[in-house]
Amino acid sequence: MIRTFKILRFNLEKDKKPHFQNYQTECPPGYTVLDVLYDIKGLQDGTLSYRRSCRSGVCGSCGMKINGVNLLACKTQVESLKKKVIHVEPLPGFPVMRDLIVDLTPFWEKLENIKPYLINHTPPPTTERYQSAEDQLKIEEATWCILCNCCTSSCPSLWANKEYLGPAALLKAYRFVFDSRDEGAEERYKVLNTKSGLWRCHTIFNCMDACPQEINITEYISKLKTRVVSERY
Ligand code: F3S
Ligand code: FES
Repeated sequence: MIRTFKILRFNLEKDKKPHFQNYQTECPPGYTVLDVLYDIKGLQDGTLSYRRSCRSGVCGSCGMKINGVNLLACKTQVESLKKKVIHVEPLPGFPVMRDLIVDLTPFWEKLENIKPYLINHTPPPTTERYQSAEDQLKIEEATWCILCNCCTSSCPSLWANKEYLGPAALLKAYRFVFDSRDEGAEERYKVLNTKSGLWRCHTIFNCMDACPQEINITEYISKLKTRVVSERY
C-alpha cells in the first residue's frame, strides 16, 4: 500500500525555519516508520537525516514525534497509523540539529549531574556486590530505560523550563538512590533538591504515556520525592 509521509525538514546551514516535505512510498505489511525512513533516504532523498542504530527498540536513538506522539520509529508499525497522511517530526523540547536529529547535549549534561553510576566507598568484594532479589525488584523496572528521551520531550514542565532535570534523569536518579548497594544518595540530593530538580515535576503523567518501555516513571519520581522529604526535612 502506498502511504504519504510529511516529514519536517531543517538544514541549519540553509534554512531559516523548518518546513514539511512530502514523500510517498510503498509500505508492505510489517513495515515500521524506520523502514520507511530507510527507503526514503536510500531511494528518494539521500539528504534526509535521522538517528537509528539497533532497529529493535533497544538503543533508544530513533525517538521522534509521529502523528503528534513521541514514539520509537523502529517500534511503530505503519499499519497502526490510521491517519491518511503521516506526520513525522523531531522530538519537541530540544534544539534541532538537522531534520529529525535533535541536540541531546542538555539531557546528557543533566544525566551526568545526577551521577548515573553506582557510588560505594567500601572496597569491592572479590566477587560481585551482593543484592537480594527483593532489593533488586525495587529498581528492576527503572533499569529498563533506554534513554530515548520520548518521556523528557513530552513533559510540559520541561517545555516551560529548559533547566528542569526531566523524567529520564529523575528516573536514573531513582535507580541509584534506591539501589541497596549505593551510597551516593546525599550527593544526588544536592542536584535533585533544587529549583530545577525534583519539585518541577507536577505529576502530569505525559512521561508515562510516552515511555516505549511502559515504565511507571511518575510513580518512581513520587517515591524519590518522598525519600528526599523524609531524609532531608
Ligand atoms: Fe513531567 Fe512526567 Fe512529572 S510529564 S511533570 S515528569 S509526571
Ligand atoms: Fe534503536 Fe529504534 S533504532 S531503538
